[in-house]
Amino acid sequence: MKRKSLLVLPIIAALLLGGCGKTSSGVSTAAKPKIGVAIYKYDDNFMSFVRRSIETAGKDKASLIVNDSQNDESKQLDQIDTMISKGVKCLAINLVDPKAAPTVITKAKAANLPVIFFNKEPDASVLQGYDKAYYVGTASKEAGILQGQMIVDQWNKNKDKWDKNKDGKIQYVLLKGEPGHPDAEARTKYVIDTIKAAGINVEELAIDTAMWDTAKATDKMDAWLAKQGDKIEMVIANNDAMALGAVASLEKTGYFKNDKYMPVVGVDAIPDALTKITAGEMLGTVLNDAKNQGQATFDLSFNLASGKSVVEGTNWKLDTDKSVRVPYVAITKDNISVAQNAYK
Ligand code: GAL
Ligand code: CA
Repeated sequence: MKRKSLLVLPIIAALLLGGCGKTSSGVSTAAKPKIGVAIYKYDDNFMSFVRRSIETAGKDKASLIVNDSQNDESKQLDQIDTMISKGVKCLAINLVDPKAAPTVITKAKAANLPVIFFNKEPDASVLQGYDKAYYVGTASKEAGILQGQMIVDQWNKNKDKWDKNKDGKIQYVLLKGEPGHPDAEARTKYVIDTIKAAGINVEELAIDTAMWDTAKATDKMDAWLAKQGDKIEMVIANNDAMALGAVASLEKTGYFKNDKYMPVVGVDAIPDALTKITAGEMLGTVLNDAKNQGQATFDLSFNLASGKSVVEGTNWKLDTDKSVRVPYVAITKDNISVAQNAYK
């Protein structure tokens, strides 16, 4: 009897509160700030996890308007105008084109609105030009450095088998993300710099953009395999979606069977890549922590939309560029559970 009434009371309380515009978590619906979010395109594997994280973080606390900018900057700018006219209190923008940040800031300034840019980093000088602008992402070069260190470790252990032409150099092909994207540029530079700094010589057999995309990467890899065949000793990809595209091409060509192997590395640690790492068809990846980047994007936006200061009441730290940078983590078979937890 006693237990029952203990259970029933909170339910009645919740029903009563529901009647006066509050949610079961006790947050008044009227007080829920409107936050306007734009994702550069929904059809991007990694960004779909960031979006999910923002939506989960905001579910009970804010009223989110989330837009798919469909990889079209002018569409995104229209979406921003519409969100401003709907009375959002903060903008959270994943730019289509990092160079469009000043245009977004002009719009935000005119409406006296804060902006949190995330995932595509604007130039530092642009952020410094508006006191209500911030960035959430990573330190782009870190992913390249960690990927490079992983390659160095593994090459040194396996070079007897992997150095097919026995010249001591790594003959690699590189699948690049979107040209001009700070992540793509920094990852491409630092992975190779890191390998060279460890005293390993490299030869670039091919490099091209596959725009972060699996199908485009398969096409590139098909062409490279047709042309270079067994000369290729390693595949370096700026992200996992493209690494998976390369793996699909390699599978078709008879790799990963009967001792035919190719080391393939990516970045992101999306679940499909973890499956391939477990199966031995990807050497490793670098965790790009979608969950924490989404959480930080929401937390900062929510604070500013609620009139608080930007990192108040959170564990996030701003660097001198007014940016929260979530660390990357190198992932191989040995520590795969770290990545599994980050994408749960
Ligand atoms: C990168 C990520 C890529 C892609 C890109 C979009 O950080 O590694 O997979 O999602 O962002 O801007
Ligand atoms: Ca070689």
